[in-house]
Amino acid sequence: MQAPLCITRAFCVALLLMTAACEPVPSPQQTQTAMTVVKESFGTTSNGEAVDLYTLTNANGIEVQAINLGAIITALRTPDKNGQFDDIALGFETLDEYLTSNRPYLGAIVGRYGNRIGKAMFELDGETYSLAANNGPNHLHGGVKGFDKVVWQGEATENGVAFTYVSADGEEGYPGTLMARVTYTLTDQNELIVDYHATTDKATPVNLTQHSYFNLAGAGTSDILGHEVTLNASRFTPVDATMIPTGELRDVTGTPFDFRQLMTIGARIGQDEEQLNFGGGYDHNYVLDGGDDALALAARVHEPTTGRVLEVYTTEPGVQFYTGNFLDGSITGKQGRAYEYRYGFCLETQHFPDSPNKPDFPTTILRPGETYETRTVFTFSVQR
Ligand code: BGC
Repeated sequence: MQAPLCITRAFCVALLLMTAACEPVPSPQQTQTAMTVVKESFGTTSNGEAVDLYTLTNANGIEVQAINLGAIITALRTPDKNGQFDDIALGFETLDEYLTSNRPYLGAIVGRYGNRIGKAMFELDGETYSLAANNGPNHLHGGVKGFDKVVWQGEATENGVAFTYVSADGEEGYPGTLMARVTYTLTDQNELIVDYHATTDKATPVNLTQHSYFNLAGAGTSDILGHEVTLNASRFTPVDATMIPTGELRDVTGTPFDFRQLMTIGARIGQDEEQLNFGGGYDHNYVLDGGDDALALAARVHEPTTGRVLEVYTTEPGVQFYTGNFLDGSITGKQGRAYEYRYGFCLETQHFPDSPNKPDFPTTILRPGETYETRTVFTFSVQR
């Protein structure tokens, strides 16, 4: 219904009395014209800590939802080639499920160290540090209670949300008080910008990443084997049987790891190849081509049935391409949908796994007086 136009104040008041509305009433079809950030309660933890849900919506109707538990992205709604919106991020609808489910880092910020540290130990400046061995003999994603499980402090920004967490000296075995801040910014160019910032009062390894599981056909609707992937990487870091890099940077040429030309995830994932067998599929760090700190395209993923395209740009030297090989249907997520084998993929931009024990890998050590700053940008579009 078209709202009446107001000509003069008196006329407007008269009309207002008659129609009880003078501003144009937005119809449901009308697209939003400005970014909005809305904060609402998502519940309380058993310790009484408040968890809030932040909903960012851009002018094109793209919506990102995030909570301050684990700085988790709980939902990401983007249009397909017909303008149909769907949630493309795996996750849950309630806080209780995030607190009680065995959730393999769905949507969370992972830290203090994303991915594995071999034998859960490292040496730094002559001291040996022991971390929790929470993945066989190794340390994974920051330990038993990593950054994905703590309550961050959230603050709405003009077009996003900033989450801050102070990790105590000795937390999960890491040295130094680390002040970490992650911001999610949504733009009208359909970019989700993730900025990472950290400082420390003692030298410590830091490697923060975003662990969203995507399914561009819609979370929980299908496996991701038909997604078409391009990775801007000529090398990857092969692993041993416990998923720790051997130290080699291996050329992808002639291997099932070569995604420099567009390839479906499923085309070669079932090959009987040592590295694929170790990972149960793709679960490997790619060494991005480029090699400086400039923001550069790391990956492009296209889902042919919906036309959705995800691009990932990063300042990081690596990306962990993980194809949900450990999903097995035991988790039921949003809309009551079970997350079956390979129902999501992750593109975790990062420094390389086990860098604290690999002097030849780019360093992950942050020292007092230095600032950790990295940026990753996810862009959403369609290809018809
Ligand atoms: C790791 C996988 C792990 C997954 C979920 C990925 O980053 O590389 O091995 O299973 O996260 O925990």
